[in-house]
Amino acid sequence: MRKPVIAGNWKMYKLHAEAVNTALALKPLVANANHCEVVIAPVFTALKMVVDRLEGSNIKVAAQNCATENEFGAHTGEVAPSMLKDIGCSHVIIGHSERRQFYGETDETVNRKTKAALIAGLTPIVCVGEMLAEREAGQAENIVKGQLASGIEGLTVADMRRIIIAYEPVWAIGTGKTATPEQAQEMHGYIRQIMAETHGELIAGGIRILYGGSVKPDNIESLMSQPDVDGALVGGASLEADSFAKIVNYGR
Ligand code: PGA
Repeated sequence: MRKPVIAGNWKMYKLHAEAVNTALALKPLVANANHCEVVIAPVFTALKMVVDRLEGSNIKVAAQNCATENEFGAHTGEVAPSMLKDIGCSHVIIGHSERRQFYGETDETVNRKTKAALIAGLTPIVCVGEMLAEREAGQAENIVKGQLASGIEGLTVADMRRIIIAYEPVWAIGTGKTATPEQAQEMHGYIRQIMAETHGELIAGGIRILYGGSVKPDNIESLMSQPDVDGALVGGASLEADSFAKIVNYGR
């Protein structure tokens, strides 16, 4: 019922030629992956070229961020979601913890970006996740609940059918420390339960919740075996076509 999504977040890596090469190397390796949606998120400067070279393939392209507005105007340094749609992007990652930690992203900007992305026809991948100290203080669920509530505030039922949530515990990102499948399931189940309370069982049952944080070829299968884990947002292990393809083709 929920088609899994395996998304690769390339962060601030790869010059445009290398991004194209990785995308082209990935193409045949995941060509038969009908069991899931495959998404890659290169840097802005490589987006158009990667989109063009992947035309006709089953790989979709995401941006890693977008502006809070679609209307063109005096917003130096920003890229409107509608501009991303214009060049062929289908998804956009919003509220990644690195943006929250280092670039002043707030729950409010996450909410505005999510709405702008939806209006532009993009699928937002909205990221939430607690820091280590928050988990240790027993606050993980509260933090995630708060981020989620603000991030999706004011979204319609139709909007909710289109968004993807990514749970990325900050302590697991780029650290090699994955949440155990049980920890991931626990939070994913909790997120789905909140969704059921706020938006009803139907929305909750349909929304895809990805796990992110040190996902690798050797742990994807156990993560995906959890009932509420609907895919992965992969950083480091998505940079090489071979390792990302292994993750996409988990269990095959
Ligand atoms: P990682 O990054 O897989 O390198 O931990 C995940 C992410 O930041 O999306």
